[in-house]
Amino acid sequence: MQTLSHGLKNKIIFFIIGLITTGILTSFFLIQHMMSKNLEERASQFAITIARDISEESYDLIITRESIKLHLQLERQMKTFPDIRYIVLTDAHQKIVAQTFHDGIPTDLVALMQQLQKKNGPVITQEVRFGQENLRHLQWQLPNRLGAVHLGTTLSGIKRDIGRMMNSMLLIQGILFFVIAGVAIHFGLQITRDLGILSQAVNAVEQGHASTQVKIERQDEIGELARAFNSMSSKLQNTTVSKNQLNDILRSLKELLIVMDTDETIELINPSVTKILGYSQSELKGCKISILTNHNNMLSDFIDTEIVLFSKSGMAIPCMTNLSPLMDEQGQIRGMIMVASDLREKKQMEIALANEKAIAFHSAKLAALGEMAAGIAHEINTPLTIIQLLGDKIRRVCAKSPLDLSKIDDSLTSLNSTIARISKIIQGLRTFARNDKAAPYDNVPVTRLIEDTMILCAERCKKMGVEVIIENKLEAATIHGNPIQLSQVLLNLISNSIDANAGIPNTWIRIHTAQKDAQIEIRLYDSGHGIPSHVAEKIFQPFFTTKEVGKGTGIGLSISKNIIDAHKGTIRLDEGSPHTCFVITLPSGPFQV
Ligand SMILES: Nc1ncnc2c1ncn2[C@@H]1O[C@H](COP(=O)(O)OP(=O)(O)OP(=O)(O)O)[C@@H](O)[C@H]1O
Ligand SMILES: [Mg+2]
Repeated sequence: MQTLSHGLKNKIIFFIIGLITTGILTSFFLIQHMMSKNLEERASQFAITIARDISEESYDLIITRESIKLHLQLERQMKTFPDIRYIVLTDAHQKIVAQTFHDGIPTDLVALMQQLQKKNGPVITQEVRFGQENLRHLQWQLPNRLGAVHLGTTLSGIKRDIGRMMNSMLLIQGILFFVIAGVAIHFGLQITRDLGILSQAVNAVEQGHASTQVKIERQDEIGELARAFNSMSSKLQNTTVSKNQLNDILRSLKELLIVMDTDETIELINPSVTKILGYSQSELKGCKISILTNHNNMLSDFIDTEIVLFSKSGMAIPCMTNLSPLMDEQGQIRGMIMVASDLREKKQMEIALANEKAIAFHSAKLAALGEMAAGIAHEINTPLTIIQLLGDKIRRVCAKSPLDLSKIDDSLTSLNSTIARISKIIQGLRTFARNDKAAPYDNVPVTRLIEDTMILCAERCKKMGVEVIIENKLEAATIHGNPIQLSQVLLNLISNSIDANAGIPNTWIRIHTAQKDAQIEIRLYDSGHGIPSHVAEKIFQPFFTTKEVGKGTGIGLSISKNIIDAHKGTIRLDEGSPHTCFVITLPSGPFQV
């Protein structure tokens, strides 16, 4: 387009100069022709005027034949008009009465005069050769055919005048030529410049810059063309996605995009494919999709599926793929578009999150244990005191005689059951402290779950003056789940309630269980001040706490929610309850016989 514009520019300049030159030359020659005609005419008129003057002045003198006066008169005329070469006066008999030749009249002039006098007419002119010059010979008849004036004027004066006039004409035309050519070239260049701008804009649109606009402020056809172009490109911009925009989209897409034809031959990839799989566009274009994957059933395998794509270096990359049909303008399927997202980062994050969760989970458990340590110590201390007392009792019985074996047996039975209680507490502690994320689910009796949990926190409740009421015991109901994790949830809730009750007199915690269809509902009420709604909306968020630094970490409820979610249950705060009330629902297991 650029070269075309240059060619056009040269052509326009050549055309303008050619046109102006032709016009000026033609007008020059036309004017020259017209002027020479005009000047010749003027020369004839001039000669006629002189002849008429002479005839008027000489009329009487010819009649009276005063040849000396006539001669002087002719001499004067010759001096006044230097272009007149000769004057001859003849009478009615065509005899010469006066003339301006000093050496006598040339014979061929005499012959010419005789010849012309035969012709009728007041004025007769003829070109004659006189010496080295071409002259115009004029014959003027005196009135009443009394005689005639013959004179010869030179043409060189005329020609000189014509030459002078032509030179000034040439000068004017030269100036005109440059002015006109300058103006024409200026406009020509303006046209070619605007056409160049238009052609560049067309090029830009061709290359995908649909929003290209041209700035040409003209009121002529080119201005109209520019306005039409601008309106076209705005429409184009509004109605189509330009190539650049498409490229931007493809480049910005984080997902891998692969366009295939119906034979699964790759037609186009986006830069993410090159970045992640290491293949360039040219390497993959024309290859089958099987170069990237082991899967061979495109339609069933690639729709919302996790598959493995292989990079150029052979690295397996887990990807989530989706496949859409690629339609042509007629709505016919002409290929497939595969969009795959790299799952590596997500998978690594999942692993890291699971690890973090497990660590937090375990730490929270240990923290709960720490909190319950005093209670546990008490739980163990009490049976130990009982054991000690039983040992003393056995010793006293043994010291007496006769030996009362039945008393010893009773004491030993109590001793055994007390030791069993301690071992149960220790067993519970060990199980609770174990990192048990993969522990299998079991059918957990609801009442035992609550009682076992209470063993761990009974002492703390007692110490804080919190009365624990367990209502509506569901003796036979079970929950299908992990007893340790479920116990941890209850411990977290009880621990929060103990904290909330701190400093309040006559405090209590009420645990209410109910069977609702296939669900077990556990409600935990406390006598605290409740939870304001702006706090309530955040309590299940990890690390949200209203407790002072070092007292609460803010993960108790979030871990509890995770555990209950994993058990396909729900945990929520009953904001409609007059007391603080947490509600847990869990799928019930089979009834215990
Ligand atoms: N029974 C309750 N009464 C009043 N506020 C409560 C109660 N239970 C929970 N909250 C509020 O919910 C917040 C979050 O509880 P969560 O158990 O998740 O964390 P925490 O108790 O602050 O710290 P952590 O349990 O990690 O030691 C608490 O800080 C408290 O403000
Ligand atoms: Mg807590």
